[in-house]
Amino acid sequence: MLVLGLVVLLAFKTEALNNGLALTPTMGWLHWERFMCNIDCAKDPDNCISEKLFMAMADMMVKDGWKDAGYEFVCIDDCWPSFERDAQGRMQADPVRFPGGIKKLADYVHSKGLKLGIYADVGRKTCGGYPGSLGYYETDAQTFADWEVDLLKFDGCYMDRTLIAEGYVNMSIALNKTGRSIVYSCEWPLYDWKVEMPDYPAIRDTCNHWRNYYDVYDSWQSVKYILDWTADHQDILVPVAGPGGWNDPDMLVIGNYGLSFAQQESQMALWAMMAAPLIMSNDLRDIDPRSKEVLQNKHIIAINQDSLGMQGYRTTQVNFFELWERRLSKNRLAIAILNNYEIGYPREFLISSSPTWKYCTKVCNVTQILPTYQELGIQTPTTNLTVKVKPSGTALLIIAPLNKASWDMDKKTLKKGLFGKWWKKTYAVKNNNSF
Ligand SMILES: *[C@@H]1O[C@H](CO)[C@@H](O)[C@H](O)[C@H]1NC(C)=O
Ligand SMILES: *[C@@H]1O[C@H](CO)[C@@H](O)[C@H](O)[C@H]1NC(C)=O
Ligand SMILES: *[C@@H]1O[C@H](CO)[C@@H](O)[C@H](O)[C@H]1NC(C)=O
Ligand SMILES: *[C@@H]1O[C@H](CO)[C@@H](O)[C@H](O)[C@H]1NC(C)=O
Repeated sequence: MLVLGLVVLLAFKTEALNNGLALTPTMGWLHWERFMCNIDCAKDPDNCISEKLFMAMADMMVKDGWKDAGYEFVCIDDCWPSFERDAQGRMQADPVRFPGGIKKLADYVHSKGLKLGIYADVGRKTCGGYPGSLGYYETDAQTFADWEVDLLKFDGCYMDRTLIAEGYVNMSIALNKTGRSIVYSCEWPLYDWKVEMPDYPAIRDTCNHWRNYYDVYDSWQSVKYILDWTADHQDILVPVAGPGGWNDPDMLVIGNYGLSFAQQESQMALWAMMAAPLIMSNDLRDIDPRSKEVLQNKHIIAINQDSLGMQGYRTTQVNFFELWERRLSKNRLAIAILNNYEIGYPREFLISSSPTWKYCTKVCNVTQILPTYQELGIQTPTTNLTVKVKPSGTALLIIAPLNKASWDMDKKTLKKGLFGKWWKKTYAVKNNNSF
């Protein structure tokens, strides 16, 4: 038994970064997509990148139920620093826009029971041209720890490609050395993919989540590109995600200008299926109640935060429907049905025609989460249950077994395909090789 365990360990070891963080996908808010590099506080005092903006978002997160829904991190992106380091070589916040400095902002955010994220870059400069951390990893890690920052988004601009891996690893070590718990959000594979296949086991060892693909824009086309790219690479991506380390398809743009309500539901549902960090970029002071409802939907969030921690994947595309499934704890399965026929009216989809339905051998319990929450109850293999899916909208359901006999998902079945790959690489090691 011992020998067998050892073999499994050596053959499939893909440990998550050992900082005990991000055991479920990170949830929070990040300024980039909505507020970008708006530094003109004279012209636009309420929306420029300043301590006022982050304090206002922290206030809203508590006041409007975001914190209660699970959104915890208030994150700063690029364009916060001064162009000059201080006399000791430390980064400093822009003195005009952050007169209290980052430590004071962190104190404010912590006083609300929330956490603060900050942004830096592995190279010579940030993407916006501010000081990069190359040559300063330990100094910057210690500075962020001294400020009591809780998350670092580490970008990859202005970096020699051959040094990228080393840079991300060195910063991970530097963060660890500070002794402070800091979630480490990387963009390492995004820069690798441009040239070669990223070293995902190393990335999982180093980072809590990692961006693979280009920045999200405020459009359905952008969300679709990200989904398609992720599905096209799911054989690589799914096995490396799990508690402590996640693929990051970038921010939720729900509540902005670009997505219809059906599309907002689709982004939320599919980000939950992908076990993605749920990091919104929107204006919490001015958000449509329907967008808020989607973002705070506790049933969708529960799928995203499921303790098994397996990323979902696309199972099939048929008749302009696209099907995703995600295995959940307690032997349950979530399925998402995206209607890619972007014309006309809501189209009917027969739930029992989904590939997942094969597990329902006698009876199973179906709960519909989107388009509306409905407990559809006990169903049989021949059930003719349908769901109507809006153009570019998504239906989301959970299928649960009633007992072992009603459900054909024994260990053998589970170890096949993508699930099996994931199980061996990511799950078995951490969980002593057992369910
Ligand atoms: C640093 O790494 C060690 C060894 O992997 C780990 O036990 C420890 O919890 C880490 N500390 C932090 C603050 O991440
Ligand atoms: C990473 O750290 C190693 C060991 O200290 C050092 O030799 C190397 O130059 C560092 N690389 C970068 C990109 O900072
Ligand atoms: C079916 O699932 C719903 C929740 O999704 C639950 O409330 C209900 O009790 C379940 N029914 C059975 C018979 O297990
Ligand atoms: C479901 O629909 C099919 C085809 O219309 C039919 O043959 C079957 O009897 C129906 N099943 C039930 C349980 O109603």
